[in-house]
Amino acid sequence: MKERVEVMISADAISKRLEEMAEQIYEDFGGEQVELVCVLKGAVMTLTELSKRLKMPVTMSFMDVSSYGNGTESTGKIKILRDLDEDISGKNVLLIEDIIDSGRTLSHLRDLLLKREPKAFKICTLLDKPDRRVAEVPVDYVGFTIPDAFVVGYGLDYAQRYRNLNYVGVLHFDEE
Ligand code: IMP
Ligand code: MG
Repeated sequence: MKERVEVMISADAISKRLEEMAEQIYEDFGGEQVELVCVLKGAVMTLTELSKRLKMPVTMSFMDVSSYGNGTESTGKIKILRDLDEDISGKNVLLIEDIIDSGRTLSHLRDLLLKREPKAFKICTLLDKPDRRVAEVPVDYVGFTIPDAFVVGYGLDYAQRYRNLNYVGVLHFDEE
């Protein structure tokens, strides 16, 4: 099987969309300082590219989570592999994700972070695949809503590869 990536969202389109989102985020937080919380590893590129476009003061922190479960059936519970190194209570927080698929990870992460009583809490994702949603979770900023396909690039991986692509593409497996 040969892997082939078909462009779905160009680098230009992503750049333009992030510009719009950054403006909206700036307005919604009233120009106040925001703590950007990045979920490793997929959201790294969105975090860096979005942050360059935000005009208010920002701080950054990183979390790494994995889902519990026996492989085939995920309980949806998450295990924290790396927690934030700062307390977020009383802070404006923007959680940044690469893609929302079933919504399970994000839903648990949201509950967990809200318990720490941030001043404001909003969620931003580059991509949304609503067709596969199992757990409803309110998302404040969506870059692009996409159909149910396996995509890579702009932080998203297949077997840890393709994260460095500056566009988002559908991964195809062709017969050789
Ligand atoms: P969920 O919303 O809890 O199902 O988990 C979403 C996570 O699954 C994302 O953060 C990605 O790491 C991964 N994921 C879901 N769909 C894709 C895809 O199309 N390409 C690459 N990773 C994906
Ligand atoms: Mg992820």
